[in-house]
Amino acid sequence: MDFQLTEEQLAVQSAARDFAQTELWAGVIERDEHQKFPTEQIKKMGELGFLGMMVSPEYGGGGMDTVSYVLAMEEISKVDASCSVIMSVNNSLVCWGLEKYGNEEQKRKWLPKLTSGEIIGAFCLSEPEAGSDATMQRTTAEDKGDYYLLNGTKNWITNGSSASVYLVIAQTNPELKHRGINAFIVEKDMPGFVVGPKENKLGIRGSDTHSLMFTDVKVPKENRIGEDGFGFKFAMQTLAGGRIGIAAQALGIASGAFELALKYSKERKAFGVEIAKHQAIQFKLADMATNIDAARLLCLQAANDKDSHQDYAKSGAMAKLFASKVAMETAVEAVQVHGGYGFVKEFHVERLMRDAKITQIYEGTSEIQKIVISRELLK
Ligand code: CAA
Ligand code: FAD
Repeated sequence: MDFQLTEEQLAVQSAARDFAQTELWAGVIERDEHQKFPTEQIKKMGELGFLGMMVSPEYGGGGMDTVSYVLAMEEISKVDASCSVIMSVNNSLVCWGLEKYGNEEQKRKWLPKLTSGEIIGAFCLSEPEAGSDATMQRTTAEDKGDYYLLNGTKNWITNGSSASVYLVIAQTNPELKHRGINAFIVEKDMPGFVVGPKENKLGIRGSDTHSLMFTDVKVPKENRIGEDGFGFKFAMQTLAGGRIGIAAQALGIASGAFELALKYSKERKAFGVEIAKHQAIQFKLADMATNIDAARLLCLQAANDKDSHQDYAKSGAMAKLFASKVAMETAVEAVQVHGGYGFVKEFHVERLMRDAKITQIYEGTSEIQKIVISRELLK
């Protein structure tokens, strides 16, 4: 593994940092408080190429590697984790899944719009009774010849109301269990598709999370992704890469909180000196920086595994498990370094603390990452 970033990777990192600092920072508190979807900001992210970073230029993407994607995700997440989850779902679940497993027609139809930000996508696996236990899909897709009849409910869907295209996982042949599951491209305007109310969340409040209801939605056969019964493998393969994106999001939340704590510790005085002069604060900063560097190495290792066509299910799960723990711990300590000021919105760290929690839950909880890692170890 080469620890030196290339000029291109450094340029992506710098562009993402500039964008986050100039375009995202100013309104982030208001968007969080009012659960306001970052419509304008996402449009600009599309224009700048942040929504289809790894997609081939043939389909309108940036043709970049996963390392560049991790670097950009870190920078955006330092400032606004709502924007970065929208970015992550669009890049690593929707675009990647479509480019890797979609047919030529599906790719030509959807990828240019998804990479430019003209539309955004959603990935729909979770259900009211099938979260971690994802094989237990209750949503059904009955094979009716030239179409499938889709019925059921999906839960917690990121980009739930703002997306135009949805990759939906559903059970076609229950007797085949997970091998009877399919993945479909579902369009928002298909009759029988209803978006439920928006969830009122603890964190990532700028992103819109909804349940989705499907009642006798006719999905044309050509909208199935891959062979009959490929849907569960599609979901698992796609999530393996998605977890690298969420690991990078967690890394960004941690480094954002750390940078704020470092700066504040040099400004705030107590007992006649800057609080950074107290060893208790210095030790907090040392722990934060060490954990963040370790998390970054795991993220880059997983990204490098993916870029060099090695198996990345384990390294991606390790990166997500560790980086999300570091995000939570670092954000809590950053609030502590800020004292009472950390408890109010103007200082940003309370938001980062609330945002950090979701990284231990979605795209597989920390317990699920441990299952994935240990199964790989015991293979
Ligand atoms: N690649 C390809 N196939 C895979 C795979 C991978 N990485 N991991 C598992 N599979 C296949 C297995 O080979 C098996 O297929 P076969 O029987 O044909 O060989 C099939 O999947 C079932 O695997 P398991 O027997 O291991 O299934 P399980 O039920 O014991 O556990 C699990 C699987 C890992 C726990 C899985 O259910 C899981 O990942 N759960 C978490 C779900 C999740 O991450 N949801 C995220 C939703 S999206 C989201 O959250 C987005 C967002 O927030 C922004
Ligand atoms: P459960 O599976 O019910 O788990 C409850 C607890 O039990 C957890 O602590 C879990 O780790 C633990 N547990 C369960 N099984 C085991 C086990 N075998 N061993 C040990 N512990 C176990 N899903 C999508 O499909 N698309 C999205 O875009 C999406 N976005 C989301 C956005 C938000 C804000 C949220 C909150 C969720 C989102 N999700 C999405 C759903 C998310 O992936 C699930 O919430 C997650 O996978 C956990 O499922 P669950 O909520 O049903 O919890």
